Amino acid sequence: MIVTTAELYKLAYGKYAIGAYNINNAEQTMGLFRGCIQSKAPFIIQISKGARKYTDKRMLEAIIRSAAEIFPEAIFAVHLDHGDEETCIDCIHSGFYSSVMIDASHESFEQNVAITKRVVDLAHSKGISVEAELGQLGGVEEDIQVDEGHACLTNPEEAVEFVKLTGCDALAAAIGTSHGAYKFKGHQSLRFDVIESIQKRIYGTPIVMHGSSSVPKEEVRRINAAGGTLDPSACGVDENEYLPAAKLGVTKINIDTDGRLVWTRVHREFFRDKPSEFDFRPPGITFQTEYANFIAAKNVKLGSADKLDEIRAALKK
Ligand code: G3H
Ligand code: 13P
Ligand code: ZN
Repeated sequence: MIVTTAELYKLAYGKYAIGAYNINNAEQTMGLFRGCIQSKAPFIIQISKGARKYTDKRMLEAIIRSAAEIFPEAIFAVHLDHGDEETCIDCIHSGFYSSVMIDASHESFEQNVAITKRVVDLAHSKGISVEAELGQLGGVEEDIQVDEGHACLTNPEEAVEFVKLTGCDALAAAIGTSHGAYKFKGHQSLRFDVIESIQKRIYGTPIVMHGSSSVPKEEVRRINAAGGTLDPSACGVDENEYLPAAKLGVTKINIDTDGRLVWTRVHREFFRDKPSEFDFRPPGITFQTEYANFIAAKNVKLGSADKLDEIRAALKK
């Protein structure tokens, strides 16, 4: 069942976080749904601009609609990840998305407010909620690269102003994380002081954590042992920090890179061990199972596992 992001936020706020997982193809979608059913968790399925271009935006919509039929017990929202104004407008008019993210965080504060406000006005007129971003994470997202030195944490005072001026429904905040597999070296740690300070000022507005993959060392080691050359010193978010962050209002936690690492590890190991193989279905089957297990484990860390019955009951009221 497709629900609104707002409904999920209302039930989860301050208690646990909803996993927001990016999908690009059928295998990821099958693994995601299976993992969420396995762990009895609600989820947000997110589609980036890059994903919409990868095959065709209609293909992704069709895959998701089919998955909803195959897994009728699933409860999820559909979200545009890191949209520009044009893509947000397209998604709002499509009637398929539960929410959109307008990412104008690279603009000046005033421009960010103006662009976000236009998207919010249109989205709200159609009953769709909007996530907007303030501050800049490090790493790569879409075609924008921000190096470590230029990442800048969200200013809590500006956050109040931003939410008030734009009317956005959720705030993507820069709270110490970065996108991608080449995350900060050494220690990457969540800035709980900043999260707390933002929550105090915009209490009730969900905070969204981007760049939440943990880039497990063992996953990187196995990929490299199978021919990869990933940076072994990359360091992501400690999964044990998801739930403490959720208690402080971080209600949506975005995870993409860790899932890509599962794909890369499964396929690299398969073709290393079976060099004469050329059928992509056997590793595809392994990937779907491994991805489902990965998602189920993440949902346990997010605190969203085993919440499905409670959510179903609350939605019926
Ligand atoms: O933050 C970006 C997400 O990981 C999506 O990545 O734009 O390569 O699809 P993508
Ligand atoms: P990761 O690159 O850490 O998985 O972050 C994903 C993300 O923020 C999607 O918007
Ligand atoms: Zn992101």
